[in-house]
Amino acid sequence: MNLVKLIDWSTGQISEVIDLAIAVKENPQQYSKSLEGKTLAMLFQKTSTRTRTSFEAGMTQLGGHAIFLDWRATNFTLGKIRDEVKCLARYCDIIMARVFKHEDIVEIANASSKPVINALCNLWHPCQILGDLLTIKEKKGDLNELKLAYVGDGNNVCNSLIVGCSKVGMKAVVATPKDYRPSPEAEAVGKQTGNYAWTEKPEEAVKDADIVYTDTWVSMGQEEEAKKREQVFPPYQVNEKLMQKAKQDALFMHCLPAHRGKEVTDRVLDSLQSIVFDQAENRMHIQKAIMLMLESAK
Ligand code: CP
Ligand code: NVA
Repeated sequence: MNLVKLIDWSTGQISEVIDLAIAVKENPQQYSKSLEGKTLAMLFQKTSTRTRTSFEAGMTQLGGHAIFLDWRATNFTLGKIRDEVKCLARYCDIIMARVFKHEDIVEIANASSKPVINALCNLWHPCQILGDLLTIKEKKGDLNELKLAYVGDGNNVCNSLIVGCSKVGMKAVVATPKDYRPSPEAEAVGKQTGNYAWTEKPEEAVKDADIVYTDTWVSMGQEEEAKKREQVFPPYQVNEKLMQKAKQDALFMHCLPAHRGKEVTDRVLDSLQSIVFDQAENRMHIQKAIMLMLESAK
């Protein structure tokens, strides 16, 4: 069993991992030896603060060990991905990787005899969204029927949110410029459930929303488009005026890192409605649960 994209996981599996994360978070001591003697390989083509640290700390808390591998310092730069992965799988029990191209994580999963976790690629960020669903469940109780509005770039986080929300019965409304829509694969999943809508207008998306979510306008790997994107996206900034159009008790979420004054203002990010640091903490709890689930499915 792998976690390459949420499309591959059933609603039952998503609920199971969230419930396990709640149990692990409530009683970490009970799981402190669950992955004793196990090793996680963490392979990074891109930079990271939260993903790397939360996986490494999470593995420590489960009694296991994590190895950080900066792609550029490995011989993935010399050999074929599939050959290098087969070697990692001989030493390690789980492989986690953050890559530029989705095809690379697929190749890693196909070559590995051990479970593989996608720690972000150009198209998806499944660990982020499972952690986000855990956070929303903690804050709002039931996930069903809640409305999440995503405003900004139709990127990896947005794609995974559409799939994750659709699978748990949440309504997802996405506002992006028309040339920056989410991926067709994500939109198709959303449309199937009838709980997904796209609009060009941020005000329309946030109307009656329980959650307002945004992410950077320039994802890792898109740096050369930064100038153009910074001209297109300012109408999609999440600021107090936009937040006022959502429900009065709406929460603000961002996967971080945030670009203050761009996709979100200081006043929103630092407001009482903002739950971004609880959201960041939950990355660790959900990833502990993901690793436990993948290990027990072996
Ligand atoms: N949200 C997230 O994945 O953060 P990092 O890029 O710092 O890991
Ligand atoms: N969309 C962002 C998310 C960072 C966690 C990126 O891919 O850079």
